[in-house]
Amino acid sequence: MTMSKRVRPHAEEADLHSRLDHLTLSRKEGFQRLADAPPRQRPELLPRRRIKKMGEAAMEEYNRGRRKWHANLGPLRTPQMDALHEDLWDIFDSNDQDGDKAKGSIALDAFPGLGKTTAVLSFARKLHRRILREEGQFTAAGHERWPVCRVGLTANTGMRDFNRAILEYYGHPGRFRGTAAEFGYRALDCVLSAETKLLIIDDLHFLRWRNTSGIEVSNHFKYIANEFPVTLLMIGVGLESKGLFSEGNSYEDAVLAQTGRRTTALDLAPFTIDSEQGRTDWRNTLLAIEERLILADKYPGILADDLSDYLFARSTGHIGSLMTLINRGCQRAVRTGAERLDQKLLDLVKNDAAAEKGRDELQQALTSGRLASRPKTAA
Ligand SMILES: Nc1ncnc2c1ncn2[C@@H]1O[C@H](COP(=O)(O)OP(=O)(O)O)[C@@H](O)[C@H]1O
Ligand SMILES: [Mg+2]
Repeated sequence: MTMSKRVRPHAEEADLHSRLDHLTLSRKEGFQRLADAPPRQRPELLPRRRIKKMGEAAMEEYNRGRRKWHANLGPLRTPQMDALHEDLWDIFDSNDQDGDKAKGSIALDAFPGLGKTTAVLSFARKLHRRILREEGQFTAAGHERWPVCRVGLTANTGMRDFNRAILEYYGHPGRFRGTAAEFGYRALDCVLSAETKLLIIDDLHFLRWRNTSGIEVSNHFKYIANEFPVTLLMIGVGLESKGLFSEGNSYEDAVLAQTGRRTTALDLAPFTIDSEQGRTDWRNTLLAIEERLILADKYPGILADDLSDYLFARSTGHIGSLMTLINRGCQRAVRTGAERLDQKLLDLVKNDAAAEKGRDELQQALTSGRLASRPKTAA
């Protein structure tokens, strides 16, 4: 079999994966594609001499496969993600009460780039599959079952747009005309007939807060939590400081607190290296990434031994910055024929601004020996 014959069917599949952007995910069909997507096909790890002997077309095909592969290394099961999933299962499963008891809501509040969207989508995928397995594709009333509804907000979304986004997800014919309240009723209809159990609102901080206390927003979500038989999973940055579940003394505070009492706040932390456990987690993550690299000259310890400090300093322990750096480094290593990652190559790769700012200070501490990113047991 020639190289290109072996690779081509996979290329098609890779394209399917790349269409799963966030725009597609705003529709239930897009979410289903994500939920049903088979694992991405891993390109073969070939030694240099095999790559050298390839014809131009085969090499192009091979590198195209590696480009896509390295651009989509995740999601890795990090300890942070595992812990979050456990909490989500606890809350979700305990919400499965009979009757019309209001269900506990969740607020996942953490800085950008810590993997909130990734972790929640991975949970939603598991949940979708579990419920379809257990309860079938159709409800007792004969409607399509959609256990998860996911809405991602963009800058300055108002309440009407928010309700409309839910209709958009279900492809409801009444999504074009109506008031905020009408959209709200139709959204409730969708949720009921599809027997949706989890309502995810991603990037909630983009919702237009009319007044600084956030009381209108808080009331709306209290309404959803009470009327919609769903577990509400709100994701955002600084939700607590926006007053979504703070408690206080005034009347307004009391109304807010009602949402608060039923809302469990969860977060996602960056990697830290100030404990042996933290260093072990960091190392295991690097080992997991290492294992996935498709570079001819990779070797055991290429990241976990030789680049541990360096990668920690440049990413400041943020999974988003780490994966960006690895992804871009791999693209360069394939393109230039370097076929490995090392400090010289990675120094040429740009990372996001926030990560670069924390880098200098951390690098100094690491090189002066005041800090170490590798666990003592791995030395
Ligand atoms: N568990 C993970 N494994 C691999 N990559 C991840 C993981 N979590 C996040 N990433 C990567 O980090 C980047 C930021 O993640 P994202 O989920 O968008 O963060 P947030 O929603 O908190 O801003 C994405 O490019 C994503 O691919
Ligand atoms: Mg996000």
